Amino acid sequence: MELKSGEVSWQSPSNIALIKYWGKKGFQLPANPSLSFTLSKSVTRTSMAYAPASDPEHFKVELMLNGKINQQFSDKVKAYFDILLEQIPFLKFFDYEIYTVNTFPHSAGIASSASAMSALALCLCDMEQIISNVSNSKKTKFYEKASHYARIGSGSAARSIYGGVVSWGKIKTLPGTSDLYATPIEENIHPVFENYNDSILIVNRGEKKVSSRHGHQLMTNHPFASARYKQAVSNLEKLLEVLSAGDLETFISITEQEAFTLHGMMMSSMPGYILMEPNTLNIINAIRSYRAESGVPVSFTLDAGPNVHVLYPQQYFQQVQEFINQELLKWCVSGTTINDCMGTGPERISRK
Ligand code: PMV
Repeated sequence: MELKSGEVSWQSPSNIALIKYWGKKGFQLPANPSLSFTLSKSVTRTSMAYAPASDPEHFKVELMLNGKINQQFSDKVKAYFDILLEQIPFLKFFDYEIYTVNTFPHSAGIASSASAMSALALCLCDMEQIISNVSNSKKTKFYEKASHYARIGSGSAARSIYGGVVSWGKIKTLPGTSDLYATPIEENIHPVFENYNDSILIVNRGEKKVSSRHGHQLMTNHPFASARYKQAVSNLEKLLEVLSAGDLETFISITEQEAFTLHGMMMSSMPGYILMEPNTLNIINAIRSYRAESGVPVSFTLDAGPNVHVLYPQQYFQQVQEFINQELLKWCVSGTTINDCMGTGPERISRK
């Protein structure tokens, strides 16, 4: 092992879940498998510089978000590294300066923890290779490990390690899947889902009302939890068939049900939370009416917040943009939308 300074940089995208992960078991393991599209433009770029620590028992982590020191995130990443020590013991022999920028605005309804934690996990894997002098361990193992490290930081981040359609969690019918890391679904995706669009409509820019951590905890004693976990498995298995057949109608009914179930579970928790806002419902109703009238296969999904992800095939881009501009913008904060689409996954920026 070499105690030499270095710097590694990665860019990693966020993702949008179609089958939602909501509820944990054990340590950072999902109570049900989930499935997402990795986004393209909504990315985090992270550079991690490391140098031998002056005091390994109290190694330091300093994180700069968008050019400014962020003490809260520095402490979070230090706590994350402390947890990872069990798996990466050499981490404590270095101090870290981490520079991170997001290409999308904070609290925009895009999961910044997914892009941020996946970028950081990839940096850690690169550093691990450099420190332990392994130049070319198997590529699949590298990404599997990165997904595993990302999961420990934020469950959904495990899926951002890969591009395209990605699942996380053991699925009996899909060999190679695991609760420990995500798996890309490269085969059997119908061309209609290529570059699938996700236009994100910002209804509220505020901080999340309920943290993911608290939301997952609420599932522990939720009266409907076991039925929900069964539903997720069955929806995921159906969705895999739908993705391969290009069956947009069933795609829409499954993914919209998933969004409503996520919010239904929050509303029926103890205490219950309403994460949608009046304009979320206005947008959803308008999407459904427009779809019925025009026949355009446009649908929505939601994260654990009020902003709406409008999903549609690439070929309908112009039509849906017109619809959004004419009918939906009035319900968005300062008319804000972010047009993103399915992307190819993280990229290494540099490794010194
Ligand atoms: O990764 P977490 O712990 O922030 O949880 C993510 C939860 C959802 O975004 C609501 C669903 C998902 O699968 O991404």
